[in-house]
Amino acid sequence: MQIAKTVQDLRLLLDNCTKNIGFVPTMGALHAGHLRLIDVAKSKTELVVCSIFVNPLQFNNADDLAKYPITLEQDIALLTSHGCDILFIPTTEEMYKKKTTLEINFSYQNSVMEGLHRPGHFNGVAVVVSKLFHYVQPKIAFFGQKDLQQCLIISQLVDSLSFPVAIEIVPTVREKDGLAMSSRNVRLSAEARKIAPILYQNLEILAANLQQFITTKNECLKQLTINSSLEVSYIQAIDMHTGLVVENFEKGKKYGLCIAATIDNVRLIDNVITVY
Ligand code: PAJ
Repeated sequence: MQIAKTVQDLRLLLDNCTKNIGFVPTMGALHAGHLRLIDVAKSKTELVVCSIFVNPLQFNNADDLAKYPITLEQDIALLTSHGCDILFIPTTEEMYKKKTTLEINFSYQNSVMEGLHRPGHFNGVAVVVSKLFHYVQPKIAFFGQKDLQQCLIISQLVDSLSFPVAIEIVPTVREKDGLAMSSRNVRLSAEARKIAPILYQNLEILAANLQQFITTKNECLKQLTINSSLEVSYIQAIDMHTGLVVENFEKGKKYGLCIAATIDNVRLIDNVITVY
């Protein structure tokens, strides 16, 4: 695996490249979920580029940024063993040579779920992903279903600004007990780690009872708040076609059931996609 630390180094590696490039943007602290994206990218493209960059612009919480895990040596070993061809690891100065005041506003998506609870977050994601797309020029970029609303805003970004890149969504990789893998899971205390799979369990209950969504959602909220260390920020269903939050469902249509909760100061999100 070749490693580029600057945009110039990356372009030197890619400038004469005629292969179809697959791109997996990450913030590092890689786990099996990230590595699944690399494996899928390997199977669908000819040259796989991964980036590791903890993007300050998308953190609306300074403490979350300060505590974001960094495991670069281990990440390099994992990417090498999964056949990643190029790793791009820019510094913050390299990515943001000039401070950008540009803001990308996703209107509706900024007013629901993560958009509502993390002001500025999607702007930060969109700015960094746009820059990375320009640097890497991928044919296909791979994103995890785990961050479902992120997938929606990236698709909106690519459509609206005509990026010549296809977006492929890869299903969520889970621990044996159902907890969605996340770089933030390492921050869970032993007690919080035991409670955390309850998020996915409740999503499964909701998926099985979509015909009584509101009643089931209220029961889930009641059930979840029995744990004093857990605070739910939302449970929402979105229409996978329109991206709108809904409470009524039409037969044969695809919905994403999404949850976000904080357990012992660690914010976790999860979702399942289901057909009604
Ligand atoms: P990060 O949280 O590191 O995630 C990188 C990619 O891995 C994202 O597409 C995310 O959805 C995916 N991913 C995370 N956990 C997963 C899991 N359990 N199963 C499958 N895929 C999973 O998302 C970001 O970084 C950043 O916002 C980024 C897009 C890199 C922009 O800074």
